[in-house]
Amino acid sequence: MRIGTPLSPNATRVMLLGSGELGKEVAIELQRYGAEVIAVDRYPNAPAHQVAHRSHVIAMTDSAALRALIEKERPHLIVPEIEAIATDVLAAIEAEGLAEVIPTARAAQLTMNREGIRRLAAEELKLPTSPYAFAASGAELAAGALRVGFPCFVKPVMSSSGKGQSYVESAADVQAAWDYAMAAGRVERQLVIVEGRIDFDYEITLLTVRAKGASGDVETSFCAPVGHRQVKGDYVESWQPQAMTALALERSRDIAAKVTASLGGRGIFGVELFVKGDDVWFSEVSPRPHDTGLVTLASQTQSEFALHARAILGLPVSTALSSPAASAVIYGGIDSVGVTFEGLELALAVPESDVRLFGKPEAFTKRRMGVAVTRGRDVAEARARASEAASRVKVIG
Ligand SMILES: Nc1ncnc2c1ncn2[C@@H]1O[C@H](COP(=O)(O)OP(=O)(O)O)[C@@H](O)[C@H]1O
Ligand SMILES: [Mg+2]
Repeated sequence: MRIGTPLSPNATRVMLLGSGELGKEVAIELQRYGAEVIAVDRYPNAPAHQVAHRSHVIAMTDSAALRALIEKERPHLIVPEIEAIATDVLAAIEAEGLAEVIPTARAAQLTMNREGIRRLAAEELKLPTSPYAFAASGAELAAGALRVGFPCFVKPVMSSSGKGQSYVESAADVQAAWDYAMAAGRVERQLVIVEGRIDFDYEITLLTVRAKGASGDVETSFCAPVGHRQVKGDYVESWQPQAMTALALERSRDIAAKVTASLGGRGIFGVELFVKGDDVWFSEVSPRPHDTGLVTLASQTQSEFALHARAILGLPVSTALSSPAASAVIYGGIDSVGVTFEGLELALAVPESDVRLFGKPEAFTKRRMGVAVTRGRDVAEARARASEAASRVKVIG
């Protein structure tokens, strides 16, 4: 593996498509190995822009703009951090051999749309999932909901972080769920998935890394399972390791190995799974670091961001856990530009705690502005510390 000198003609150039808090940590890890980092987002001064060699503001769903930027910057590696990207451009760039798309252009294409990844997982790979149906109108949704049964979840096929999602308990609420999904979906395409609810005991993210091993071939390794708690489809708290039965862990790894092998390439994947006793269902997968994996900043010697950077550069990885740990989200709590944070010293006075403030230029009530990560003797202690530390940071408008 050869790395050039940043800002020189032989630089190893990496372009991040999406420059949020996860991209910021990836950018920092890449910089540590001497890569030249080019951060792209749709708004200026995004978190990863602030730690990159260069930054650009474009609509990443605009094929022409994306293509022009890639041709101008000539990155060796293109690393999507978000789903809403003109993935047809990535596919063309990959086919032309202009750059390597991480993990693969096909992975970006399949996972940007719930339909692509669900059909791959359930119909091609035959992995267990919730019952589901796709609907392109209110009437189709009503029929689909009857088929999968109540209660169910309705989600735009192009959406993330719970946007446009509804939990529907009866037929009377179906039309409202359709209207909400249409108002909040990411693109104009009128399609939703309705999924029967899985009555799980807990849900996990199984961070799975595909990286070059000693043999030179790509090998798959797993981090300890990350448990998390979601409110309205958005993660508020995560911890590692989540206790599981040996059989549930084995099944989880089996599912994660199959879906990541199918997506291919190198990098980290966040495989979301529902678990009840020994039973495991596949939910979805991110071919990139996962928000619930922020906990690995405290729990692992190589965080999910370090693992991603190493894997994509062709370097060896270790998924070893160093300590039980937890993360708790610091929300904006207000809508305001240029906020101030108070109480960082109080948060960091919590034993074995650390905080990341992402530096987002604008706060929204439900926008993630930072995260507290803490270690503990066990997960219970780490979780209590993370919530305490997060609560001590106050956002002032
Ligand atoms: N079929 C389901 N059964 C039970 N819970 C679900 C189901 N679908 C979604 N959820 C809950 O909603 C959360 C967000 O759903 P998800 O499909 O992961 O959307 P997003 O892409 O926005 O993360 C899940 O982590 C889980 O807590
Ligand atoms: Mg999810």
